Amino acid sequence: MARARLLQHAPINDWLMLSSTAKRQIPFWHEHRASSEFSRRHRSNSKMADCTGGEFYVKHFEPSAYLEDYFKFGKSAVGDEYLKLTLPLFCSAFAPGELKGDTLIDIGTGPTIYQLLSACECFKEITATDYAESNRKELRKWLQNEPGAFDWSPVVKYVCELEENRMTVPEKEEKLRRAVTQILHCDVLKSNPLEPLQGQQYDCVLSSLCLEGACKSKDEVCCALKNISTLSKPGGYLVLCGDISCSYYQVGKVKFASMSFDKEFLRKAVSGAGYTIDKLEVSSTADKEAEKETTDYSGVYFLVAHK
Ligand SMILES: C[S@@+](CC[C@H](N)C(=O)[O-])C[C@H]1O[C@@H](n2cnc3c(N)ncnc32)[C@H](O)[C@@H]1O
Repeated sequence: MARARLLQHAPINDWLMLSSTAKRQIPFWHEHRASSEFSRRHRSNSKMADCTGGEFYVKHFEPSAYLEDYFKFGKSAVGDEYLKLTLPLFCSAFAPGELKGDTLIDIGTGPTIYQLLSACECFKEITATDYAESNRKELRKWLQNEPGAFDWSPVVKYVCELEENRMTVPEKEEKLRRAVTQILHCDVLKSNPLEPLQGQQYDCVLSSLCLEGACKSKDEVCCALKNISTLSKPGGYLVLCGDISCSYYQVGKVKFASMSFDKEFLRKAVSGAGYTIDKLEVSSTADKEAEKETTDYSGVYFLVAHK
């Protein structure tokens, strides 16, 4: 096991030279990725693909570690950069009068609320969802303002500034807390993701960083998009946001596989799910050093479409 610990950061060749018996002794997450190069070369390896999907998140995803690692302004370069790239995009997509309707569902909300801070300016009723109860619980903690809830106030302040301080931080937090009316279980791999509920449809379907981690293949992503498209009302919007060319990201000590998207794939997959794309932006990351430690993403995508 000591060798296993060393190998977490070992060069790829050390890994490839190990006997299969030695490999079996190494915990799954060491096995799947010694480096981003390993992941790219073994994208089709079924064990790598095992680091995705709802059950993997139930077992291994620690909501508080995810929040600490990526959503504390000033703590991680990757997290800061991600927030600074995406929050202005959310702010302009959900600027008052941009997208019209009453209801929004966020698919794979996780324990986060950053993606909803501007959305609550356009949609007065928000449904949050996730496969893992641990994420739904962490989210509930913040929504109910419980002791020990994550402190989102620096991120909220940043969004308030982007929105020209029309609201104070406490007002914005209160507005979002009021807007989120329910938190549901969902599985994007089911033809009815909200099963056992039937026939729910929304003016806007939003999802950030979920399909990348929920799906094992591009075919599965296309299928998941078709599944979540059933939640769109006719004419309803789809807002998707996530990482470009990302093969993994790390939460605490666990590495999660990510489907690697590019603009062309997104265009095809979203059109194939019956949407017309209104906007698809890709912004590149600048911080190459930070990437190497916890993820190998090369930028973010932000897409707005309608049915
Ligand atoms: C990287 S987190 C993203 C959380 C949040 N949306 C964000 O932007 O930070 C991926 C989320 O997808 C959820 N997830 C994984 N598989 C899923 C599935 N099959 N259906 C729905 N959600 C799933 C995980 O539980 C996790 O909360």
